[in-house]
Amino acid sequence: MSTARILVVDDEADIRDLVQEILSEEGYAVEVAANAAEARAACARQAPDLVLLDIWMPDTDGISLLREWQQSAGVECYLTVDRAGDGWDANVGVVGSLFKKPGVQVPVNNTIAFVCGPPVMFNTVIAELIKRGLRDDCIISTLERHMKCGIGKCQHCAIGRTLVCNDGPVYTYRQIKTLGEQI
Ligand code: FES
Repeated sequence: MSTARILVVDDEADIRDLVQEILSEEGYAVEVAANAAEARAACARQAPDLVLLDIWMPDTDGISLLREWQQSAGVECYLTVDRAGDGWDANVGVVGSLFKKPGVQVPVNNTIAFVCGPPVMFNTVIAELIKRGLRDDCIISTLERHMKCGIGKCQHCAIGRTLVCNDGPVYTYRQIKTLGEQI
């Protein structure tokens, strides 16, 4: 089986380096890009299996780059905001409302869902993903909101016998269910 390729796009070098180090240790082939131009070049060389894309970047922001890939590379991208400002031309509504849009499908045999946000969003989106047949080990989220010191001292992040800062903060939904965490 070939190694999955991940492209990390972030203008902050510290974040790029950290994410690259973590993912490389997990066995992924990781390429990094500091801006949209480098990301375009990396994708032109070889399409990655996954892109981790920063939104706030100085030249072309992540949303604009996504829209560009939507036009040129056939990437399906559905954007939504709770409240739209001037100039917003994508969906307005909670994340769960995207499931009701025509054409939105979740190909369960080929999907990993990364779900990050407030508990109310998490619960709604997870319920929808499960209803559509996604396995709970293919749903990934973070419990980072429980953390304070981040170094295993304050116990603020304790859920049962688990310290989120040491053992997480990223968990599959299958793991989260075993923690007894009310999310
Ligand atoms: S955040 Fe302090 S112990 Fe985990």
